[in-house]
Amino acid sequence: MIIAIDGPAASGKGTMARRLAAHFGLRYLDTGLTYRAVAQALMADGASLDDEQAAERMVRDVDFEAMDRTALSEHAVGEAASRIAVLPGVRTALVEQQRAFAEEPPGAVLDGRDIGTVVCPHALVKLFVTATPEARARRRTEEMAARGGSVTYDDVLADLRRRDERDSTRAVAPLAVAPDAVLLDTTDLDIDAAFRAAVDIVDAAVRSQDRG
Ligand code: CDP
Ligand code: CDP
Repeated sequence: MIIAIDGPAASGKGTMARRLAAHFGLRYLDTGLTYRAVAQALMADGASLDDEQAAERMVRDVDFEAMDRTALSEHAVGEAASRIAVLPGVRTALVEQQRAFAEEPPGAVLDGRDIGTVVCPHALVKLFVTATPEARARRRTEEMAARGGSVTYDDVLADLRRRDERDSTRAVAPLAVAPDAVLLDTTDLDIDAAFRAAVDIVDAAVRSQDRG
């Protein structure tokens, strides 16, 4: 059983994916972290974020099991991740690893930008989680403040808009709603309400698979 969750930054897809994995007894992969890890390794090496060969080498060298989630959640790392995410060679190498993870029993929940469209096109359930840019910027600003960061709402909103634009317009695997995805707008939903809605969608898909 594979559950694919896509959506723009800070839409709540990671929180939802983690809870769905626990609820249905599945493994969980935050694919955004893999792009973030490659970007951070490149920056630490002093390499350019446009250097495709160096970035592809990093995909081989980064130990994805040992990723430091706290360091990777930094604002600047998200921006850098979206820059290296346009490089086709990086995507090919990461998608291969992500697919291998998804296909191991008993199945998995993956969240990212291209899970339903590219990584797991045959997922049992595809969710596309959205919220207005303002709601997402508010959430991300609060999240950063809780961690002791000092980014302003205006900077976060500008960054999210830039990242949405870059992620949606790149040539390879842009952020897009798969034709068979269910849209879940969480602008006016708290985490519990969004999670309940997602569980109902997955339960309905499982029942329909059992019937068919
Ligand atoms: O958590 P947040 O939504 O801010 O970002 P993320 O999911 O950690 O992803 C960081 C960046 O990696 C995104 O802006 C995308 O450019 C890229 N990404 C991607 O291209 N494909 C994925 N499956 C996941 C992330
Ligand atoms: O993975 P993604 O970047 O899409 O978002 P996230 O990390 O799951 O959520 C970003 C922030 O929004 C977290 O601090 C969540 O607790 C919060 N959130 C919320 O307030 N309401 C929701 N319905 C979903 C997430």
